Amino acid sequence: MAQAAVWCVPCSPPGQGAATKDGVNLRPPTLDLAAATALTGVEPSKILFFQREFHSLFRLAEEAAEECRFDVRELELIRTLDRLIFAEGCPLGEVRRRLAGTLRTARVIAVTSGKGGVGKTTVAINLAVALAAGGRRTLLFDADMGMANVHVFAGINPKRTVVDLLQGRATVGEVLVDGPGGVRVLPGASGLTELADLDPGAMASLVQELLHLGAVFDAIVVDTGAGISSRVVDFLRVADEIVVVAIPDIASMLDAYGVVKVAHEARVKGQIRLLINLVSPPTDPDAVAERIRGCARRFLGCEPTLLGWLAQDRALQEANQKRQPLLLSQPQSDSAQRLRRMAAALMNGHAPAAAAPAAPPSQPGPGPPPAAPVTRGRPADDPVPTARNAHQGGVVHAGP
Ligand SMILES: Nc1ncnc2c1ncn2[C@@H]1O[C@H](COP(=O)(O)OP(=O)(O)OP(=O)(O)O)[C@@H](O)[C@H]1O
Ligand SMILES: [Mg+2]
Repeated sequence: MAQAAVWCVPCSPPGQGAATKDGVNLRPPTLDLAAATALTGVEPSKILFFQREFHSLFRLAEEAAEECRFDVRELELIRTLDRLIFAEGCPLGEVRRRLAGTLRTARVIAVTSGKGGVGKTTVAINLAVALAAGGRRTLLFDADMGMANVHVFAGINPKRTVVDLLQGRATVGEVLVDGPGGVRVLPGASGLTELADLDPGAMASLVQELLHLGAVFDAIVVDTGAGISSRVVDFLRVADEIVVVAIPDIASMLDAYGVVKVAHEARVKGQIRLLINLVSPPTDPDAVAERIRGCARRFLGCEPTLLGWLAQDRALQEANQKRQPLLLSQPQSDSAQRLRRMAAALMNGHAPAAAAPAAPPSQPGPGPPPAAPVTRGRPADDPVPTARNAHQGGVVHAGP
């Protein structure tokens, strides 16, 4: 056994992040190769082989390959690989398949909407920062098809994107970048149409990659982009939580219902939640959510829960403009607190713990929401036609 086991960040027990002065957690402690060998009993050459062959299952820092460090939670992975490959003689392809299923631990949270510009990216980034601050290894995946901009609000300038990954020009480790508050970011293809034009095979491998990543993260937040295409539905299918963002606007409410409908028809396994954004007096966010829920209840027989709501908040807008998430720039603000409660609820799979005040803070706003979508009448009155083309890559437009 090697004596020179070295903790590179010896500050908190395995499984817990290390708190910094500003309360933002770092990634968990790391081990060098000698330590990993000492703790697992697996020879260094085998560990290096595992790291090379199963790179997407290991810690994903770009520097990891050069410095050869390991997350403490990867020790079990090393032992499992050793058992499967060297003790049981399992072929590598079979090992990959088995691990994709068994090692999945991450909670996948898809943030989506029917109508664009309703705050998905803002919500996704801040939820991710809240989760990372709570000590969870968090990945923020910008899956917006062709209009990716997580990196803009997150204040990062990635050299590579998910397109490089899919086209084999880069490994996962090379594409992932450090984002704000300890979040790891898988950047999308900004301003390009490549991701939007992905063929189903490429999309399948992207979703598969996501499942592999699930083995090394505790939470994966996916910004799906607006509209319901088959590509968005692919992400919704693997999500444990689907956050449908809507604003108090008739088109957005209808489109939100359209998303709920497509997700329901796709038989998603995850919980569907509503997040009402850009709320200003005298709008009642519960009433907005109830209009969407009413449609879902009547026409689909399902009832998405209300995750929470956010006021039209200048601080959120300014944080985005400054490219620093609100959770970091104004962590005590009302919106930041709401987002933290929502993040906790998403991880725990229940409604936010603390009841939110009934009315949004008093700010100038556009006034009350327009009339609700149709909530009475025969199912034929369903305001959103059935999404026949949703699974062939078409976009369901939810307008009447
Ligand atoms: N609660 C809020 N208060 C004030 N401004 C907000 C709020 N939420 C989002 N915004 C602003 O609204 C705009 C749209 O937000 P964002 O880009 O997050 O939406 P999106 O749904 O991701 O858009 P797209 O569909 O184009 O990807 C941004 O300028 C953002 O700063
Ligand atoms: Mg966006």
